[in-house]
Amino acid sequence: MSRLDLFIDRMVSQRACLDFAIDDTAALSGPVFELGLGNGRTFHHMRERIVGRDIYVFERAVAAHPDSTPDEEFTILGDVRVTLVQTLEKMGPVASLIHADLGGHNRAKNDAFARMISPMVEPLLAEGGLMVASDRMYFETLTEVALPKGAVPERCFIYRR
Ligand SMILES: C[S@@+](CC[C@H](N)C(=O)[O-])C[C@H]1O[C@@H](n2cnc3c(N)ncnc32)[C@H](O)[C@@H]1O
Repeated sequence: MSRLDLFIDRMVSQRACLDFAIDDTAALSGPVFELGLGNGRTFHHMRERIVGRDIYVFERAVAAHPDSTPDEEFTILGDVRVTLVQTLEKMGPVASLIHADLGGHNRAKNDAFARMISPMVEPLLAEGGLMVASDRMYFETLTEVALPKGAVPERCFIYRR
């Protein structure tokens, strides 16, 4: 598989999983957390489709397209290894949907990072909430959910509380 193939599979899977998760959690009122703003494409997609829920973005350095930059009050700046813990203390287990796309090109590093932050992400999810991740996560209390039509196995993962 070429890197282009992998990239396309990841993008198609992100959209399919996010659309599924947005619909599935629509009845929940808790906020949505976007971990890793990057260019802001997935944030923009969620902002277009999510109604009536706040979207908080976690990012260490905002450098997104201007159309896809969250307002300051919804930007949680810093390393997620710190800000996830702070957010749990401040807000509790409130998130209706968490999307994480924090990885780079090194799959082994991405896996190690996902393993490290899993226990920080897990307690933030509200009852019935979903987590969508580009990397496999290592949760003790969340259940992996079957991927929706259009998503490519191993390119995206969904977990439910
Ligand atoms: C692949 S990009 C996200 C792309 C985004 N989903 C989009 O559609 O444009 C990953 C982002 O995660 C951020 N990131 C990676 N590790 C982080 C960390 N430890 N704390 C906060 N942000 C981090 C990077 O700065 C980068 O902007």
